[in-house]
Amino acid sequence: MAARGASRALRNSVKQLTAAPVVQRRTFVAAVGAARAGITAAPKAAVSTPFQQTRGVKTIDFAGTKETVFEREDWPRERLLEYFKDDTLALIGYGSQGHGQGLNLRDNGLNVIIGVRKNGASWKEAEQDGWIPGKNLFEIDEAISKSTIVMNLLSDAAQSETWPAIKPQLTKGKTLYFSHGFSPVFKDLTKVDVPTDIDVILVAPKGSGRTVRTLFREGRGINSSVAVYQDVTGKAEEKAVALGVAVGSGYLYKTTFEKEVYSDLYGERGCLMGGIHGMFLAQYEVLRERGHSPSEAFNETVEEATQSLYPLIGQNGMDYMYAACSTTARRGAIDWSKRFKDTLKPVFNDLYDAVRDGTETKRSLEYNSRPDYREAYQKEMDEIAGLEIWRAGKAVRSLRPENQK
Ligand SMILES: NC(=O)c1ccc[n+]([C@@H]2O[C@H](COP(=O)([O-])OP(=O)(O)OC[C@H]3O[C@@H](n4cnc5c(N)ncnc54)[C@H](OP(=O)(O)O)[C@@H]3O)[C@@H](O)[C@H]2O)c1
Repeated sequence: MAARGASRALRNSVKQLTAAPVVQRRTFVAAVGAARAGITAAPKAAVSTPFQQTRGVKTIDFAGTKETVFEREDWPRERLLEYFKDDTLALIGYGSQGHGQGLNLRDNGLNVIIGVRKNGASWKEAEQDGWIPGKNLFEIDEAISKSTIVMNLLSDAAQSETWPAIKPQLTKGKTLYFSHGFSPVFKDLTKVDVPTDIDVILVAPKGSGRTVRTLFREGRGINSSVAVYQDVTGKAEEKAVALGVAVGSGYLYKTTFEKEVYSDLYGERGCLMGGIHGMFLAQYEVLRERGHSPSEAFNETVEEATQSLYPLIGQNGMDYMYAACSTTARRGAIDWSKRFKDTLKPVFNDLYDAVRDGTETKRSLEYNSRPDYREAYQKEMDEIAGLEIWRAGKAVRSLRPENQK
């Protein structure tokens, strides 16, 4: 076993750290206390970071690099209502983001309408969420015609597919909003060439639309990227930040459309999803080939990671997680991390190149535009669910106390 059970590790680490310097001890013990109480320490780090405030913009020092961050506090609800009092926001598409951002805008009291195709699943889902046909739920063209701000939250493939019909409706004076830089940045492939006489802005929540909604309802906010592609009015950035807060962001990190789409495609193919899945599979397969049982292979690969160690990294960082593990585990992990980094870095460079040169976009557009896309995707999901590792995981999870009836 590479690391100990979470509670024992934490107990022992507290003991070890009583001899550590004051600053480290205070941080660790406070975090352990919070972890025991089930408190997530998320916003604290940002709050305690030194910052300068100039007219609602904060310059925060991220490990030696100063970056611009906008904060929800600067846009209280009354200010949002005043700012958007003459606007109609047409939110086109009602997938995960449409649902989260749309309901948050509605709860914030803004004049928001939904535009989706009448025969699609989204129309029914919107109705279930209380959007009323003819009042604030329309077909896409009608919603755009009534709006001043068009929030394009169709799937990325659909943004490309519908562009010939949508573009002529984006007349001077309207604002075009995206939650991903994908369509305009890869315009050679997507054909989304935005009109030159309108503001084009982006707010990209760093999480699922379901989380956008949940955090908003909890009175918190999701972290989002914010960017301007085209500023015709001179107000594009301010509008983007205000919209970002209105859809449920807590903090908005300033970036560009290019940087947002490159980092997003890269991250999800790497550590967030593809890379981590590949690491899990490789480690699990070797354990199984060397004679370990499915439960042992799963527990040492996934369960301990997701249930014990990764949450510790999320709470207080990598050194905090190391501190919670045995000296044996620490020594080996520090040594092997260097070899993994050196081995994987060329793969990450290949990945970044494939993202930047449009290879990944081309693949995504081709695959996701196929008429049999949903069936093909379901087949792949069934294959993943059927892998021994994830079947073993199902059995392991069934033994968790909360799953025992
Ligand atoms: N999901 C996330 O976690 C996330 C996070 C940050 C940013 N984003 C970005 O947010 C945007 C929206 O993503 P999403 O995940 O919320 O939505 P999605 O699930 O990718 O897209 C769903 C919407 O697209 C519509 N649609 C699909 N094909 C269509 C077509 N041919 N014509 C008209 N409508 C069509 C669907 O309507 P029907 O029901 O009628 O098919 C549905 O309303 C994307 O740019 C995405 O990259 C997503």
